Amino acid sequence: MIRISHLRMSYRSAGERVAAARDVSIDIKQGQFYTLLGPSGCGKTTTLRCVAGLEEPDEGEIEVGGDLVYSSTRGAWTPPYKRNIGMVFQSYAIWPHMSVFENVAFPLVNGEEKLAREDIRKRVLAALALVKLEAYVDRPAPYLSGGQQQRLALARALVAEPRVLLLDEPLSNLDAKLREEMRVELRELVKRLNVTTLFVTHEQLEALTMSDVVAVMRDGKIIQEGTPHEIYSHPNSAFVAEFIGRTNLIPGMVPQGASAGAEIVVETNMGPVIAQAVSAFAPGEAVFLAIRPEDVEVSRMNGATSSNVFDAQVERLLFLGEAVDSFVRIGGQSFQMRMHPSAAPSFGDSIRVHLPRARCLALSSQ
Ligand SMILES: Nc1ncnc2c1ncn2[C@@H]1O[C@H](COP(=O)(O)OP(=O)(O)OP(=O)(O)O)[C@@H](O)[C@H]1O
Ligand SMILES: [Mg+2]
Repeated sequence: MIRISHLRMSYRSAGERVAAARDVSIDIKQGQFYTLLGPSGCGKTTTLRCVAGLEEPDEGEIEVGGDLVYSSTRGAWTPPYKRNIGMVFQSYAIWPHMSVFENVAFPLVNGEEKLAREDIRKRVLAALALVKLEAYVDRPAPYLSGGQQQRLALARALVAEPRVLLLDEPLSNLDAKLREEMRVELRELVKRLNVTTLFVTHEQLEALTMSDVVAVMRDGKIIQEGTPHEIYSHPNSAFVAEFIGRTNLIPGMVPQGASAGAEIVVETNMGPVIAQAVSAFAPGEAVFLAIRPEDVEVSRMNGATSSNVFDAQVERLLFLGEAVDSFVRIGGQSFQMRMHPSAAPSFGDSIRVHLPRARCLALSSQ
């Protein structure tokens, strides 16, 4: 439904060229909720604006709904208003001098298709009903709460029944509770309408909870793509492991080397740890050992005789309500583990921790 291939785009500012998208390729199926996730400045908005036609790329191809809307080699260019795309901007971009009704009606009044006033009214009311704003139809747009303005921007993006929806951090201005509610509502809404959605966020929790597919971006490139579960459980690099959720990342070295997917011994400053090699490693290569805090277990096994079992001291406890984070020291290494409050150790306890080998990943240090 949306296909981007080998997209490159750079900005020129003060005589300098800033490469914002560097060879981005993605393929989004009809009805899919696809998320670009990455830190500030990695090129998410740029990619979205290229799909919308608000920026002209340097190179590559973009297809929307099977139509080639941009191609550097075939000279294709479709202007934004003919791409049949709904977009919610990072800043919402609600028109403050207009009412709720006028904001939503704007794309219809100014669109290609000439509609009768009564049809416009019907469609605006239907779009407002989708986001539960019917009661506010005549109110001036600025007199809405942040969450209501966000839903208004969504109604405006949906009113022309676009083939695809582009959402640029649409929840970032909401408070934590409302954001949590809107995550669920927004996903349910676009799934019900079966509209293909390209969503942009730097919040890992949003990406994990809302998406069918997540693409992690860094410095203008996609470095890993997969389901939320794949990205979280099988990060392909230290960057992805650290960016998504919390993880213990311990520098180490692999004396033996291994092929991708094999078990491998990682020498660390707390001793040898058996892990899964995420990529192929040569003997002696530097790696990172990664394990999630919730995967570290308290063990009753004897540390001296069992593999991946270590003696540890509890140095710090952080009560989070539904969980307790314990910070323990194993030899020279500080380690984080997350547990249910009823199972958490006490400050100063000497415990044994077990690092299940299937949950320990050896990641390239590049
Ligand atoms: N108009 C512009 N002129 C020059 N450089 C720009 C312009 N817009 C963006 N950039 C640069 O391009 C890069 C990518 O920017 P982009 O807005 O796509 O990032 P982003 O991933 O959306 O970040 P954020 O999460 O902060 O919104 C950044 O280095 C940014 O400084
Ligand atoms: Mg942005």
